Amino acid sequence: MNHPVIMRLEGINKSFGPVNVIRDVSLDVRAGHVHALLGENGAGKSTLIKMMSGVYQPDTGRVLVDGAEVQLPNTKAAEALGIATIHQELNLVPTMSVAENIMLGRTPSRFGLVNKKYLRNEAAAALRLIGLDVNLDTPVGELGIARQQLVEIAKALSMNARLLILDEPTAALTGKEVDQLFAVVEDLRAKGVGMVFISHHLEELARIADSISVLRDGNVVAEVGPDTPEAELVRLMVGRDIDNQYPREAETPGEALLSVRGLSTQGSFADVSFDVHAGEVVGLAGLVGAGRTEIIRAIAGADKVDSGEVRVAGSPLKLGDIAAAIRAGIGHVPEDRKSQALILDATIGENLGLATLNKTSKAGLADRRGQKARAREVAEKLRIRMADIDQPIRDLSGGNQQKAVFGRWVLAGSRVLLLDEPTRGVDVGAKVEIYRIINEVTAAGGAVLMASSDLPEVLGMSDRVLVASGGKIAGELPPTATQDEVMTLAVSNVTSTITENPHDFEEIAS
Ligand SMILES: Nc1ncnc2c1ncn2[C@@H]1O[C@H](COP(=O)(O)OP(=O)(O)OP(=O)(O)O)[C@@H](O)[C@H]1O
Ligand SMILES: [Mg+2]
Repeated sequence: MNHPVIMRLEGINKSFGPVNVIRDVSLDVRAGHVHALLGENGAGKSTLIKMMSGVYQPDTGRVLVDGAEVQLPNTKAAEALGIATIHQELNLVPTMSVAENIMLGRTPSRFGLVNKKYLRNEAAAALRLIGLDVNLDTPVGELGIARQQLVEIAKALSMNARLLILDEPTAALTGKEVDQLFAVVEDLRAKGVGMVFISHHLEELARIADSISVLRDGNVVAEVGPDTPEAELVRLMVGRDIDNQYPREAETPGEALLSVRGLSTQGSFADVSFDVHAGEVVGLAGLVGAGRTEIIRAIAGADKVDSGEVRVAGSPLKLGDIAAAIRAGIGHVPEDRKSQALILDATIGENLGLATLNKTSKAGLADRRGQKARAREVAEKLRIRMADIDQPIRDLSGGNQQKAVFGRWVLAGSRVLLLDEPTRGVDVGAKVEIYRIINEVTAAGGAVLMASSDLPEVLGMSDRVLVASGGKIAGELPPTATQDEVMTLAVSNVTSTITENPHDFEEIAS
């Protein structure tokens, strides 16, 4: 089969201020090919694809489409050429419905009247492509991050693009949804659509990529085939070997530091009880919609709870009160850093210090200098790639923002960590840094509850694994369990999974 070049980059350079982020990058994206970009957090992957999709313009170098040089002054210009993008940080409007988001900017209207039926039909067709089961009228902000990501994917797919750019589309998805997405990708590839695919999950590249460009500090250091061994890919991207991806050092468990009893919230989860002991990492596995995030948010005080009790080191915790949870020593890494954890316009130092502010006052005055020095130490420890601690956090790459959310609780010295997808978007090398810090927390007598869609991570870093299914804890497994055993439990209660009115979808579909 013939695979003509759809887009060619030639000698692209891009700087932000004095920082040279993309250096002399050239590459071809071909019809019917999936071209993967691989690189550490901050290597320049997102910046590069933003120049393919009209978000940024190169300082020097050329972009060619079908052999002719093009200017892409904005995303509309790229879309007009058939280039659709799924960005790493989602671009949905939370208050608008699923259907409106999918059709945003393409809302069919006649004499100023929106053709609602057409809009709903098109949106329903897009959702069907990826097998997503949500109510078209639900405001997107009410969906979990995985479903939001699927809506964003459906939106891009519905544009009939011939070049589709996917920036970490699988970061928040579980295995089943990744399979669904890859089935669509394979179908598009067979139809001749060219794709750019970014992921930190190396095993996905072997499954789906036709070629892989490895970026390091803004340079393409290698272009290799999908059969390249993972260890070799790691060496190319981080410049060293990683011999132990999951360096869990288990401790002898102490007292129950976090005790949850009979926790229930109508429509989310029911009668959830478990303990996490000092020195333990307890994993929380389950499908999207199983209630993992809701359980964690409830313990962290982020949501109201109908009934039940939470104790920290034996003392009852006031529920529905984030400040009380923080005072009790709870640190919460939420699933969506952009909308739930970061103040994007504040600096990196300020974001790191958010949970520490009232702890660092010296004689009643905020100890700003000490605070900043400590923030800098944590940033270094986590190897947050930044120009300056006073930079707005918005300017950090996705994975480096994620490290900062984690770093906030390291700085605050939290003894109970509630982690929801803690390494979402974090590169393989930096993941190991986070795992080492988790080890330090438990070695110091802390307790960690970790929800993750990444089963190897859950099994590799937990001392025990709780499996949520349909809003209940369906069972507990040792870390020696297989992924299949986890999945069997994860679907055990699935008839009662709380979905957003599944019948609605079928009515529209039929
Ligand atoms: N608007 C901006 N202003 C200043 N610096 C920026 C801006 N956007 C990106 N950068 C910097 O450019 C570098 C590359 O960032 P980019 O987002 O492209 O990385 P990435 O490879 O996508 O990383 P990740 O895997 O974490 O998503 C980072 O050091 C980042 O801080
Ligand atoms: Mg990125």
